[in-house]
Amino acid sequence: MKHKGFERLIREILPDMGYVYRPMNRRNIRRKVARRMEEAGIHEWDAYHDLLKIDGAERAAFEQVLRVTITRFFRNAGMWEELGRQITRLWTVQPDDRIISAWSAGCAGGEEAYSLAMLFEQLTSDGKLSQGWEILGTDSDTNSLKRASLMTCQWGSIKEIPDQLRERWFTEKDNSWALNPHAGRNITFLQQDILNDPLPGTFNIILLRNNILTYNTESVQRRFLSDLRRCMEPKGLLFIGRKETVPDDTGFEMLSDSIYCKTDD
Ligand SMILES: C[S@@+](CC[C@H](N)C(=O)[O-])C[C@H]1O[C@@H](n2cnc3c(N)ncnc32)[C@H](O)[C@@H]1O
Repeated sequence: MKHKGFERLIREILPDMGYVYRPMNRRNIRRKVARRMEEAGIHEWDAYHDLLKIDGAERAAFEQVLRVTITRFFRNAGMWEELGRQITRLWTVQPDDRIISAWSAGCAGGEEAYSLAMLFEQLTSDGKLSQGWEILGTDSDTNSLKRASLMTCQWGSIKEIPDQLRERWFTEKDNSWALNPHAGRNITFLQQDILNDPLPGTFNIILLRNNILTYNTESVQRRFLSDLRRCMEPKGLLFIGRKETVPDDTGFEMLSDSIYCKTDD
């Protein structure tokens, strides 16, 4: 078999580290891991395999290399409409004067956190929401977080934004779109590993999309969701990715395809 050492490495080490082993994107992953091995001064797949078994810091670097950071604003736009309906349902029926706190966990370049800010602004200006809100965006990848602070992007990442919001929030210059800085006024970005660092607060809404529920094994997901429940307010909303599901009996009730609600303790 071609690239036998690499195949063995990912087939054996990924499940060991709590990741799902998927035979896809081989070439790309192989290239990225080879680059990381070079940085670590290692030239043989087997030697790198042995290093990963004993070196926690190298395992963390390897995990970061594997992480996919692709994202876009209002990814799967129909689901954001549904999120807007659920937010309206929860907070218009029982308005209170506490700030709504939301966390975009694994936010990549911040597009998801900014999308939520635009949604809150829209609901507010439509008279559907009267509370204040704040958003925390966290990711383990520092390059993605740098992108979040730039607030400029290319067409590919804004194409799903509803026209009205795109016109309101973005200005085009030389095929690059700049986001109005006002969109970031209630957002804080932090570097954080969601599986290994302490969870960062208590939230009414958590966005956990296209990361743990896609790339990690079910036992990692269950452990993480049990921690996540503890940092959610009663009736808190969990918003996940289009192709993802929340494992049964983890304390969440499905409200619609990608939106769950924390069940009572
Ligand atoms: C495919 S992107 C998805 C971004 C966004 N949530 C979305 O759905 O468009 C996955 C992001 O999750 C981050 N991520 C994955 N595992 C993580 C972890 N354990 N801690 C922090 N960030 C993580 C990756 O760095 C990456 O930026």
